[in-house]
Amino acid sequence: MSNKKIRVGVIFGGKSGEHEVSIVSALSIIAALDRKKYDVVPIGITKKGQWIAGSKVASILKNQGIKEFPLLEKIITPDPTKGSLVPITSVKPKARLKETALDVIFPVLHGPLGEDGTMQGLLELSGIPYVGAGVLGSAVGMDKIVMKKLFRDENLPIVKFYDFLRTSWKKDPQKITKDVTKRLAFPMFVKPANLGSSVGISKAKHRKELIAAIKEAAKYDRRIIIEETVPNAREIEISVLGNDNPKTSLPGEVVASNEFYDYDAKYIDGKSEIIIPAKLPSKTIRTIQAIALRAFQATDCAGMARVDFLLDQKKNKLYLNEINTIPGFTSISMYPKLWEASGISYVKLLDKLIQLAIERKLDRNKSLTSYRPKKEWHKK
Ligand SMILES: Nc1ncnc2c1ncn2[C@@H]1O[C@H](COP(=O)(O)OP(=O)(O)O)[C@@H](O)[C@H]1O
Ligand SMILES: [Mg+2]
Repeated sequence: MSNKKIRVGVIFGGKSGEHEVSIVSALSIIAALDRKKYDVVPIGITKKGQWIAGSKVASILKNQGIKEFPLLEKIITPDPTKGSLVPITSVKPKARLKETALDVIFPVLHGPLGEDGTMQGLLELSGIPYVGAGVLGSAVGMDKIVMKKLFRDENLPIVKFYDFLRTSWKKDPQKITKDVTKRLAFPMFVKPANLGSSVGISKAKHRKELIAAIKEAAKYDRRIIIEETVPNAREIEISVLGNDNPKTSLPGEVVASNEFYDYDAKYIDGKSEIIIPAKLPSKTIRTIQAIALRAFQATDCAGMARVDFLLDQKKNKLYLNEINTIPGFTSISMYPKLWEASGISYVKLLDKLIQLAIERKLDRNKSLTSYRPKKEWHKK
């Protein structure tokens, strides 16, 4: 290995309801990346979806609307021979492109258009290694319906659920209501299939609330999932790190300040508590670790993921709730805190994730991308 520094692009902000959370996570990461090893290039995405770069990115994102930012507009070219972040207005000569090339990208984006495989698709086209799951793992991790179906296929413990299209609901709401109430017992959780931070999610205790909850979820997505409730659930979360041989941390527990872990409880009221490690019998810990690894592999995750569980305290029954491919990453967030408690510091964790991103790209490069047919039939 040469002593050349690794140029890390940190992408954050984004056209998403979780824009603000992303900024806080990214600023922690940018501050912690070891400058002896890395040159850090902050890359911001505004709420309108414009890409900007430069040293002032974070303050521009926080004060959107100021005039200078069109000057800083940047894009990633989907040209793997360049692997660069370039200004929109000019195509730079080759020499300059080398200077702007990035060795690895850390997408610190939550929710749709950042965590759902769309960004990962762009990074894949650009040929730049990136931290975290690829297109498939990201898309699956964002989609509560497909994710649960894959978990079900692996015989992992999940709650009973029912899913349908918004168009079917609009066409025949009575049929959907009848189907749901026939299959699932109240109370139920109603969720848009693709979203995070509890946005659009509500708990329905009876038929009237169910209808209101479906209408609310249908505002956010064209597909909806309804689940049976895990009563008095303890919320247990665990961190996974690695590519083909992932490892798990110790589990932690979230004690939500509201009836469930909704948006306010997650970010606003500051009263939700994190307990690390979670107080659990060692047998339960081992079960959680084993299920988390299987969930990670079933969804083709890579690099990192936080796997969330709901534990029915009365029956002592564990349910796998979801996998998050880009978990919150502030220095006090669950994902890095769990690693810290398991012996990997925040700074070391960033090193590992960057290494894993590069390793994964090298592994992907081993696959053939062309096929030589027996006859050159296409040249006729
Ligand atoms: N089936 C369920 N039973 C009990 N609580 C649930 C259930 N589903 C969700 N919740 C509560 O709602 C919160 C958000 O739901 P979740 O599926 O994790 O969505 P998000 O992706 O927005 O985090 C959970 O952290 C938990 O508090
Ligand atoms: Mg969740």
